[in-house]
Amino acid sequence: MLRVLVFTSQLEMFPTLLVLLSVATLGCALHLPIGPEFLLKKGPINNRIVGGEDTPIETIPWQVSLQKLGRHDCGGVIYSKNIIITAAHCVYKINPRIFDVRVGSSTSKNGGSVIKVAKITVHDRYVNINNKKAEYDIALLLLSSPLEMGITIMAIPLAESVPHDGATVLVSGWGRTETGKAPLHLKSVHLNIVNREECARANDDEQVPRATICAAAPGKDSCGGDSGGPLVYEGELVGIVSYGIGCALPGYPGVYANVVELRKWIEEEATKVSST
Ligand code: ARG
Repeated sequence: MLRVLVFTSQLEMFPTLLVLLSVATLGCALHLPIGPEFLLKKGPINNRIVGGEDTPIETIPWQVSLQKLGRHDCGGVIYSKNIIITAAHCVYKINPRIFDVRVGSSTSKNGGSVIKVAKITVHDRYVNINNKKAEYDIALLLLSSPLEMGITIMAIPLAESVPHDGATVLVSGWGRTETGKAPLHLKSVHLNIVNREECARANDDEQVPRATICAAAPGKDSCGGDSGGPLVYEGELVGIVSYGIGCALPGYPGVYANVVELRKWIEEEATKVSST
């Protein structure tokens, strides 16, 4: 959509700039949809941690921002001083060298500390289908240097049993909000666990996927950029943000990798990778 204007001389550029400037000013004054905002907006309600609140990192000290080439790309969760859990689709087939994690900060752009990723381990049963629906959407990141734990940097224990349908859970991240934009400040939102059969029906799944768990609440959801982040029940990790159809759309619960089902894999691989 964006055109590059090529000018042969400074003189030619001036009148064109003037016209562009006045059109833009007029557009703002009359609220005409001609600003860059309008050009960038995509679908209607599709792009919308929706319905959440700003939350300090001290409240969710296991939350990290996974940065790809220096920019926030996905969420992640502190498992131990040298291992981060994230979604497989965030890191699948990508060179670990382009990833860092920012820990101990409420903003994804600055603060806390930034540590390089040394190695990525993706679940061997993960299948990437167009970056969409995925079972076993989980990966471990080995950090190049150990974390210094504190009140803003802490590991979270893995849950041992799946929360009951309707249980209240908390999801967090720097993913898109109801405005369609990614926020600077960490957000979180309470959701309820959705029955697995119901969730599979909503997603048109032929079978109920074993390694997933779903959560939803009216007008609330995780969204693009939250992937890899934590879904927490009573202080324990129960899910990792994986996928969804749109965000906060009625009838379409968000889908999470089921940490209880994947617990053995996480523990075994973490032991293997930490000892190499
Ligand atoms: N796949 C998204 C990401 O890469 C996460 C989407 C979660 N969607 C949802 N509706 N809960 O960040």
